[in-house]
Parts: sequence; C-alpha cells; structure tokens
Amino acid sequence: MKILEGQVALITGARRGIGKATIESFARMGADVWACARSFDSEFEEFCSSLSSEWGVEVRPLYFDLEDKKQIMASIKEVRKVGQITCLVNCAGIVAESSSFAMTKAESVMRVLDVNLVKQMELTQYALRGMADGGSIVNLSSIAAAGGMPGQYAYACSKNAVEIWTKMLAQELGVRSIRVNAVAPGFVDTDMGNQAAGDLLDRILDSTVMKRMAKPQEIADVIAAISSNLFSYMTGQTVYVDGGGASRNG
Ligand SMILES: NC(=O)c1ccc[n+]([C@@H]2O[C@H](COP(=O)([O-])OP(=O)(O)OC[C@H]3O[C@@H](n4cnc5c(N)ncnc54)[C@H](OP(=O)(O)O)[C@@H]3O)[C@@H](O)[C@H]2O)c1
Repeated sequence: MKILEGQVALITGARRGIGKATIESFARMGADVWACARSFDSEFEEFCSSLSSEWGVEVRPLYFDLEDKKQIMASIKEVRKVGQITCLVNCAGIVAESSSFAMTKAESVMRVLDVNLVKQMELTQYALRGMADGGSIVNLSSIAAAGGMPGQYAYACSKNAVEIWTKMLAQELGVRSIRVNAVAPGFVDTDMGNQAAGDLLDRILDSTVMKRMAKPQEIADVIAAISSNLFSYMTGQTVYVDGGGASRNG
C-alpha cells in the first residue's frame, strides 16, 4: 500500500538497525527519503540506490554527525535546496555500557542525554524550518522509558524525556497541523537491542507475550504507518510496540 506517496521523509540512524528498516518501509510505502547516516559508507550508498530502483522513489543519502552542529546545518541547507520535507523520524540513538548506579559516570550520563535528547531537539529545530505544515514527526522512545532497564540509568531517563518532549512539541506544533508522536519498541534484534539486553535477554523475552525480539521491520512499519495520513488525528502519543510487553513493568 502506497500510503506515503507524495511524502518526503528525513530519517536519522539509517545506516543500520531500525533506521535502515525504516528507510525501506518509507520507500516501499511510496515516500522519497533523505537517509541520514553519520559518515560516508559505500555499502549504504548502494543500499539507498537499490531501494530507489526497487520502489521507484528517490532515496538520497545524507551525512552528518548529530554531535556536530555545523554538519547538521549544512545538511539541512542541502535538503532545503531540493524542497520541503513532510516527515521526520528521529531514529539515531545510543546506549551506554551497562553499570550499577554507583558505577555510573556523570560523563556517560551526559553523553547519552545529549545524543538521545538534546541533539534530537537541535536537529528537529533545524528540520522544522524546512518542513511543510501538515507533516509528521516520529521520535524513538523505548520500553525503558516506562519501566526502566537494568544498568541503563541514562538511557531510560533520556527516553522518558523524549516522551514528554514529544507531548509538548505536539501541543506547540498543532497550530501548523504537524503531528508529533513517539514509538517505544521493546527489544529489537539490532546491535543496540542485543547490547542492551546482554545476559538478561532470555529472562526479558520470557516476560513478554510474544517470547521473542522484534525484527527491525516490525518497528519500522509502525513508524511509517503512523507518519501517514491514515493516522491524521493522532498526535502527542507514544505507541508501545513491545510484543505484549510485561517487561516494561520491570
Ligand atoms: N534495538 C532496540 O532494542 C531498541 C529498543 C527500544 C528503542 N530503540 C531505539 O531505536 C532507535 C534505533 O535503535 P537501533 O536498535 O536501530 O540502534 P543501532 O542499531 O545501534 O543503530 C543506531 C543508529 O544511530 C546512529 N547514531 C548514533 N549516534 C549518532 C550520531 N552522533 N550521529 C548520527 N547518527 C548516530 C548510528 O550510526 P552509525 O551506524 O554511524 O553508528 C546507527 O545508525 C534508537 O533511538 C534506540 O534508542 C531501540
């Protein structure tokens, strides 16, 4: 179903994991895509052009590090030269090494909060200048936002903050009919999902209804669907996609 035909999406974290699956979902559903990765990668370039030819859309790679404001500004300038975007997906994110509270270092907390919250806000501020009224923003939260995650103090706090930011931004952007929602996955089979679950994976999965990790595409399709006009009255919400998610209750 081409429910995103005519849309132009900017999607971060697109080189791997959920972001990579998301550029695929958007292309399959008919959108042109700015696929954002941290640095040049020839395999990523090939993947983007294979999506363009397979789905008859434009999937253009765009390179910037979220931690480098100048790179962000230059990239958004490039995007604005081509035209407006209608969808933004803030998918890039990091976790820290797992540690007890006593061993959690302030620098590590600050870096995770910076990348997962502050830099997402900064990119969104720039992106909004080139965004059409009536568009959609989707942020990535996590089940950690609701129930915490063992050893991941900074990560869980950053995702909890993303949810309240999502709600507040939805209120502010209602006047432009830009919808702002978040998707909160459970454990997804990506580099991050496997790192975050670590040795607790079996125990965690046992406490979910589905008894397995999500495939990245299962999260990506939800992100793409709620970005479409099928969800035109939904804003300020966080959608938990966690396989039945008893795990989010700790
Ligand atoms: N996997 C899960 O179980 C899970 C569960 C809940 C929520 N989430 C959330 O879903 C999102 C995607 O997770 P994932 O599992 O796909 O993670 P992933 O496989 O580790 O990929 C993370 C992506 O973020 C990019 N990134 C990190 N720091 C960046 C920076 N400073 N500038 C630009 N890009 C940067 C990475 O770029 P490089 O490729 O260049 O490193 C990578 O493409 C994250 O926000 C995560 O918190 C994941």
